[in-house]
Amino acid sequence: MPQQVNGVIAPGRNEPVRVETITIPDPGPGEAVVAVQACGVCHTDLHYKQGGINDEFPFLLGHEAAGVVESVGEGVTEVAPGDFVILNWRAVCGRCRACRRGRPWYCFDTHNAKQKMTLADGTELSPALGIGAFAEKTLVAAGQCTKVDPAVSPAVAGLLGCGVMAGIGAAVNTGEVGRGDTVAVIGCGGVGDAAVVGARLAGAAKIIAVDIDDRKLETARAMGATHTVNSRSTDAVEAVRELTDGFGADVVIEAVGRPETYAQAFYARDLAGTVVLVGVPTPDMKLELPLLDVFGRGGSLKSSWYGDCLPSRDFPMLIDLHQQGRIDLGAFVTETIGLGDVEKAFARMHEGDVLRSVVVL
Ligand code: APR
Ligand code: ZN
Ligand code: ZN
Repeated sequence: MPQQVNGVIAPGRNEPVRVETITIPDPGPGEAVVAVQACGVCHTDLHYKQGGINDEFPFLLGHEAAGVVESVGEGVTEVAPGDFVILNWRAVCGRCRACRRGRPWYCFDTHNAKQKMTLADGTELSPALGIGAFAEKTLVAAGQCTKVDPAVSPAVAGLLGCGVMAGIGAAVNTGEVGRGDTVAVIGCGGVGDAAVVGARLAGAAKIIAVDIDDRKLETARAMGATHTVNSRSTDAVEAVRELTDGFGADVVIEAVGRPETYAQAFYARDLAGTVVLVGVPTPDMKLELPLLDVFGRGGSLKSSWYGDCLPSRDFPMLIDLHQQGRIDLGAFVTETIGLGDVEKAFARMHEGDVLRSVVVL
């Protein structure tokens, strides 16, 4: 029987979000209905609301979530009712060329639930990143569910569904930070701080946090940064060079998504260093660099999409590390809120007051 539950809808471009009754169909083949327990508020949700992603309003927002599988459709073997799962927005196919070549994070045939969730009047909803988890229940593809240890708090587990995984993965998977490396992280919001945590986990010797806001630098230090640079008052490139015996960092992670900060990352790296772009630029942004500077430096320029993660490998591993006290994912949860507070959470996010507001159900 289709079910009626509450969900947070973005009705139209820049209109305030609101809680509405939505209809969740029974899971079809390959699908699962998940009772959401927690869902973090991410920038991408705000971008959906602002019309920055596409115009397929109304959106059902929320995509950084954990919950319990309630029911599954025909042919589902990945998960069963009662499983505690983290949702991911890149369920890979396992068959395409990227998947077969062992790089599933580049899969070009990712999938979501085929059926649609709707408003009470039958209007089809577009779930944010194919998830839509600011809701008591949501419909996803079974491949979007990764089973993890149910002993962990849902608010913490959900964070791995997007921003925290993106940041940790940028350091560990994409940047391949190694023991003894020097690492600089430019932009220390939730994603940058997670990159700091990842760099520390990977054994980096120096972790230099760069931001324009002293409050963010303080948090980055608490997360494991060994040095901090306020790039409003200090030249970031010079500062990183000075802290690395004049060489530049082995890995520089850009977690802002702007041309200026990308250029800083480019010049703050060691000649053989790696730049990882995890901040998401907007379509109008252009980067201009002297080609001779590109030629004159070795190393590599990489981008990291969702932390180049493999949910089935990385989610349970990071939950284990958290449960063992080797990383503290709880430090990313600034506040827990209700479904009706998402609009307020967007405002706080905009002011830079929170790492993560997490809707708890
Ligand atoms: N130089 C350094 N830091 C900057 C600059 C700058 N010019 N401009 C902004 N910042 C800092 C902010 O002070 C803030 O601490 O970058 C950080 C951005 O953090 P958040 O706004 O909390 O964003 P976050 O969730 O971490 O995401 C960062 O990654 O996934 C993407 O879409 C996301 O592009 C965004 C980026
Ligand atoms: Zn694939
Ligand atoms: Zn997100």
